[in-house]
Amino acid sequence: MRLVRLIANLGYGNRKDVAWMFREGRITDPDGEVLYADDKVEHAQIRIDGEPLDPPTGLVLMMNKPLGVTCSRKDLGRVVYDLLPPRYRARSPALSTVGRLDRDTSGLLLFTDDGALLHRIISPRADIGKVYEATLARDLSGDEQALFASGTLMLESETTPLLPASLEVLSSRQARLRITEGRYHQVRRMFAATGNHVEALHRSAVGGLELGELAAGTWRPLDASEIAQIFESTEPVRT
Ligand code: URA
Repeated sequence: MRLVRLIANLGYGNRKDVAWMFREGRITDPDGEVLYADDKVEHAQIRIDGEPLDPPTGLVLMMNKPLGVTCSRKDLGRVVYDLLPPRYRARSPALSTVGRLDRDTSGLLLFTDDGALLHRIISPRADIGKVYEATLARDLSGDEQALFASGTLMLESETTPLLPASLEVLSSRQARLRITEGRYHQVRRMFAATGNHVEALHRSAVGGLELGELAAGTWRPLDASEIAQIFESTEPVRT
């Protein structure tokens, strides 16, 4: 791919802007030698104003989504894209969230510009477990594990029951739930179906990939072995 197009697709500007950046000598190799638009150079050898180029297409990021931000491109309030560098919104192909978390849910949120990978992760057939830590308004009754594992729980206004989900009781009002679907407000509605209410919800893992020590509101790119972990099968949470 020609350099102007490659750099424009990473969101640094339109092709005219990038052509100007070349003319201004802002695009160089690692030694500061000015590059020209028709040079043949590896992605890793390109600097803009001395900084390495953003990662190429095929990007996968994980974010520790904070509370109070929405998984949408446009919203009146704060959105998850506001936590990324502004040019990431202008990348082509576009960077999308892999599924969504509610505004009031925190934790592991993936982004990718790889449509095929996105569909492999969110497809119900992929059977990728998502693990949530829920804090509840009322004590667990003790019936939840069996109900969630049954494969018969029907949420209000739905026509097919939920697939079996596994619940680990952490304390009287705290539980870890592993689900393989991504229905609308699923975890909150599952506990609502038991007469309870989720006060706080945090996603700690997607497949075999755990959030780990990433601070709230921060993000980082995943390497190939971390992307592979998403597809590693995990045990249902202990019951
Ligand atoms: N289930 C919910 O209820 N909310 C989320 O954000 C994710 C799963």
